[in-house]
Amino acid sequence: MLQLINSVKSSLVTKLFKLVYLYCFLHFVKKSIHMSELSDFLLKRRSVVVRNMAEPGPSNEDLENIMRAGMRVPDHGRLTPWRFLVIRGDARIKMGKILGEAFKKENPDCINEQVEIEEERFIRAPAIIAVISRTNPEHKIPEWEQILSSGAACQNMLTAALGMGYAAQWITEWYAYNEDVKAALGLKSGDRISGFLYFGTLKEAPSDRTRPVYEDIVSEWNEPASL
Ligand SMILES: Cc1cc2nc3c(=O)[nH]c(=O)nc-3n(C[C@H](O)[C@H](O)[C@H](O)COP(=O)(O)O)c2cc1C
Repeated sequence: MLQLINSVKSSLVTKLFKLVYLYCFLHFVKKSIHMSELSDFLLKRRSVVVRNMAEPGPSNEDLENIMRAGMRVPDHGRLTPWRFLVIRGDARIKMGKILGEAFKKENPDCINEQVEIEEERFIRAPAIIAVISRTNPEHKIPEWEQILSSGAACQNMLTAALGMGYAAQWITEWYAYNEDVKAALGLKSGDRISGFLYFGTLKEAPSDRTRPVYEDIVSEWNEPASL
């Protein structure tokens, strides 16, 4: 009898716990659904080009939250096919030297002024996150989907930073594809750079750029296309 009472008690506690959890979850979803500011923000958000960035960069706490947002992306098979590398402070100057050397190697006829521009790329913003796409091509989840997840991580971090009021831009430039730069960043064979996310404080409000025409992009499928 005592055993039966205990078992009923424990199942009641479990049910209660599940109900409370469901209530909290619905409350969160409801709050999110009513967050029309989020959709307003998404409809208007825009990147801030790196030349319009100034000090300071995101605080440690904000930077961590930006990366936590980057980790919270759709990831088929839970493969976590991305890594984030923070570059700030003096590390930016060291990266600049690496860029300068790599640039000279790629462009043996370049002039000093060009090398200087390359050396200064990473000091254009206070903080940079290199987003690395690290896939497992042998896995049954198509590699394409693993790469897409890394793009989603970039976009989530960009949106999170912009939403916090920072200036942010997603850049690749030439050095995302340079083997010496990739080696200096510690990339493994097969790794790709999805982008360098530059973060800072807004120096100048961005004007919007021309956006695609909705009707050119969106259509509705009703029947098989004729071949
Ligand atoms: C993968 C990727 C790489 C990019 N690389 C560069 C780049 O090297 N240089 C650049 O000026 N913009 C680059 N952009 C574009 C900017 O990040 C951004 O799209 C542009 O500034 C307008 O941004 P917005 O639509 O968020 O306002 C890149 C975008 C993506 C998605």
